[in-house]
Amino acid sequence: MPSFTGKIILITGASSGIGAETAVQFAASGCGGLALVGRNKDNLDAVCQQCQEKGMPKEKVLGIIADMAKEEEVQRIMDSTIQQFGQLDVLVNNAGMGGVKSLADDDILTIYDTVIKVNVRSMLQLTQLAVPYLTKTKGSVVNNSSVCASRTLPTMISYNMSKAAVTQFTRCTALELAEKQIRVNEVNPGSILTPVHVKSGRADNVIETAKKVHALGRIGETSEVAKAILFLASDDASFITGTSLAVDGGRHIMCPR
Ligand SMILES: NC(=O)c1ccc[n+]([C@@H]2O[C@H](COP(=O)([O-])OP(=O)(O)OC[C@H]3O[C@@H](n4cnc5c(N)ncnc54)[C@H](OP(=O)(O)O)[C@@H]3O)[C@@H](O)[C@H]2O)c1
Repeated sequence: MPSFTGKIILITGASSGIGAETAVQFAASGCGGLALVGRNKDNLDAVCQQCQEKGMPKEKVLGIIADMAKEEEVQRIMDSTIQQFGQLDVLVNNAGMGGVKSLADDDILTIYDTVIKVNVRSMLQLTQLAVPYLTKTKGSVVNNSSVCASRTLPTMISYNMSKAAVTQFTRCTALELAEKQIRVNEVNPGSILTPVHVKSGRADNVIETAKKVHALGRIGETSEVAKAILFLASDDASFITGTSLAVDGGRHIMCPR
């Protein structure tokens, strides 16, 4: 596991799934502090507790309840993080939502606006707010995109578009921030078993489909994505910026028939 001794890590979408596991892995790495963002207080409290069980002192794990769709709450995330820790080394832009709609749905614009706000706009805002602090630490950013940045899930037009935007965002910001020695990368997960599938009632279906659409013949685990995020965030990836790392069991190279 890479070392993050003394480093302050901010993770959005840390109350569930990939973000929660990423928080626990950073805690186990012995990092200096964690700022964890989510909306569901019970879930976020449980993740903060798990991080403490990995050896993090209570005051080094800050839970922040915030809605990424609200500009003033995104501002509050950065303000609270700096107020508590005084620095930022790693930003993990992980929060995201789906949104099943297609052109046939009259209300597609409503879901499109929400998905873009949560998956893309908040990422841009939070990253912009983080730049002064990441400049001081020569820190790094890891975004959570998706295999859907380049492949197309049916009835998920807004989600697919948002994740393609995340990939361009990763490249644009990597280029812009390189002169400050801030690295920006992304992971592109395939199907990963998380509460998002359980909540949709489609977990069994997703597990079965995953056997066919991933070359490795199975669904992925949150720990597999979290490890990739920690790698990209760490000094082990010191000459890597602007990259999209597929964590998808080979799904992006497939054309099943
Ligand atoms: N699971 C997959 O198969 C898969 C594949 C590719 C990419 N991804 C990406 O991985 C990321 C994490 O997804 P997951 O599968 O781990 O899903 P998840 O278990 O549902 O977690 C989503 C996280 O995002 C947070 N979130 C969503 N909307 C938010 C909002 N408006 N404001 C604040 N927080 C918000 C949730 O917070 P609360 O629950 O507290 O509201 C939760 O912590 C997403 O960006 C997703 O697109 C997932």
